[in-house]
Amino acid sequence: MNKIIMGGQWGDEGKGKIVDLISKNVNVVARYQGGANAGHTVYSNGKKLVLHQVPSGILQDDCICILGNGMVIDPVELCSEIKELEELNFSTSNIYISPNAHIVTPLHKAIDLKNEDSAKNKIGTTGKGIGPTYVDKYNRKGIRAIDLLNENKLKNQLEKRLGIALDKNEVAKDFSHDNDAFNVFYNSCEYIGKYIKNIYPIMHDQDSKILVEGAQGALLDIDHGTYPYVTSSNPTIGGISSGLGIPTTKFNEIIGIFKAYVTRVGNGPFPTELFDKTGETIQNIGKEFGATTGRPRRCGWFDSVAANYSIKLNGINQVVLTKLDILSEFNIIKICTSYKNDEKESNDYSEFMNSLDDINPNYQEFKGWNCDISNINSYNDLPNNAKIYIEYIQNILDTKIAIISVGPKRNQVIEL
Ligand code: GDP
Ligand code: IMO
Ligand code: MG
Repeated sequence: MNKIIMGGQWGDEGKGKIVDLISKNVNVVARYQGGANAGHTVYSNGKKLVLHQVPSGILQDDCICILGNGMVIDPVELCSEIKELEELNFSTSNIYISPNAHIVTPLHKAIDLKNEDSAKNKIGTTGKGIGPTYVDKYNRKGIRAIDLLNENKLKNQLEKRLGIALDKNEVAKDFSHDNDAFNVFYNSCEYIGKYIKNIYPIMHDQDSKILVEGAQGALLDIDHGTYPYVTSSNPTIGGISSGLGIPTTKFNEIIGIFKAYVTRVGNGPFPTELFDKTGETIQNIGKEFGATTGRPRRCGWFDSVAANYSIKLNGINQVVLTKLDILSEFNIIKICTSYKNDEKESNDYSEFMNSLDDINPNYQEFKGWNCDISNINSYNDLPNNAKIYIEYIQNILDTKIAIISVGPKRNQVIEL
């Protein structure tokens, strides 16, 4: 059967590393939503590689890598990603772009940046044009991958759309179709044309062993996340059937990736955020700086209330706990077990989801283990206090922890 890997928090949980690890057992890895806002870190022969749009299965020989119709694809960024992979001698001939995927143009990126500039309550987007491209999709004015195959039609579509943008003041008055950004865009469109291929036969082939790779995380979901501080797609499970054309009944392993603490990039509520030295220490040791924008990630303790919500939303039946090694530094480690406000206390996230700024978390404290665990490969060899922490999380989430990650490299895992 097929597997899903998705982020259970606000993104950057280590999805790329785990997809890379698990993709050795499949022949297809497919992305279903988002675009170049994602930054998935993998290591190849000790060299760090950050993938933004190409699925993290690309490191496996012969793995088919699908960019699904639910994605919004930036040809310019994709072109440079493919060239980087080719320079590293990875074959890219197995990349498939769905003809129905929508296309991010320089215009969409300009609108994204202008929206952020002029907003009173900034979302803190990645500036990759994600929101404006999905707006055009749902407004039925989008440009799709199939349109890249006809240059004249594409130019006409873009000129028309730019006229509307200028009329509506969506971009600065001097924004022009003749600038260099558009030349690079058209060249990139031509370059990626050969990858635009029908994905349905692969998705529907009974012999395909598919691993679906989520981007972002459940709490950034447009419907179920911390709206409006969310991304513009559905990273939760519902996005898969619409974003790849495959029913979720085809999947039996739904693997949620959770950091052993929590991080968030951009604005929006974050109940367990640490504003003190501890938060700063997690940020420094965990190298918590965005893989896409380089922005510092906000850091806080593991939040079991939010994690349980993610598990229920997605039917997650296996948890992968990443970056446990980063907690080795601390004498005291905390887990949030419930939220409270002036009226009530509860561990049901949905009761507070629209007033997260007004709650206080309740914590359970744990003793740290204060030793390096980054070379440990067997659960039995972990220090006792680390086992107590892991088992508490497994119990409070009532879900099996299948893998513990103790370092960025592929082999730094403990499989349970
Ligand atoms: P993704 O977006 O979910 O794929 O995650 P990112 O790649 O944006 O961020 C995860 C970061 O943590 C990357 O720099 C990874 O190399 C790193 N990483 C992943 N797992 C571990 C781990 O278990 N320990 C440590 N120290 N780093 C990890
Ligand atoms: P991966 O796949 C973390 C956040 C942005 C911002 C919000 C909206 O690497 O986990 P957008 O550009 O999508 O309109 O920004 O979503 N965001 C991410 N945060 N990891 C990501 O991807 C993210 N992709 C978007 O920081 O708060
Ligand atoms: Mg990331």
